[in-house]
Amino acid sequence: MTAPALCIFDAYGTLLDVHSAVAKHATRIGPKADAVSALWRAKQLEYSWVRSLMRRHRDFWKLTGEALDHALRCFDIDDDALRADLLDAYLELAPYPEAADALRELRNNGIRTCVLSNGTPQMLERALRSAGIRDLLDGCFSIEAAGIFKPDPSVYEIPLKKMNVALQDATFQSSNAWDAAGAAAFGLNVFWINRAHHPAEYKDNHVTEIASLSALPRMLEQGESGNATNHLNIH
Ligand code: LAC
Repeated sequence: MTAPALCIFDAYGTLLDVHSAVAKHATRIGPKADAVSALWRAKQLEYSWVRSLMRRHRDFWKLTGEALDHALRCFDIDDDALRADLLDAYLELAPYPEAADALRELRNNGIRTCVLSNGTPQMLERALRSAGIRDLLDGCFSIEAAGIFKPDPSVYEIPLKKMNVALQDATFQSSNAWDAAGAAAFGLNVFWINRAHHPAEYKDNHVTEIASLSALPRMLEQGESGNATNHLNIH
């Protein structure tokens, strides 16, 4: 493959560290902070999948609040101020340290960049700006345009249509294995950013595994397509 025209990035978990919200207030939560954060994220995603299957869409910001409420209740935390501060922190998540440099390098190499996320347009604009990476993206697309969450196939088409790029001329990057699989099932060339070295999942969908976004510009320059039949580990 020659270098793609467009690199499409997932936002939460891929460019933005979803656990940085709880980390910011960890001392107020105590030793269960990591577990609260994990349950918050797990429920947020579960609610998105269940609502999509039920065809009862509700936007990601509402689901993020509902998931937080559930997680706090599960850990017997009843603190309205903390709830409000955690939600505020979700609007200003920290970026992964290598994200800005990787985006900049891709654009220096003539590749356009964009986000495709479950987040609402407002959540995304605010978080990407606060993370200092919005100006490194040529587009920011929310699944709200389709009214259904990833991995419904219809959502992966949004950035291609909006940026007028053919399927084979784009790559999709996500740290979420289920999202990477969804994009691959749709037909995109996919790089799975496996920072945590999780075992591979959904193996019938071909993705190229890399350990961080830093490896992406070089791999694309070398002609790696993101559609490898073998999983690669770049450390
Ligand atoms: C997103 C979530 C799924 O940004 O991470 O779409």
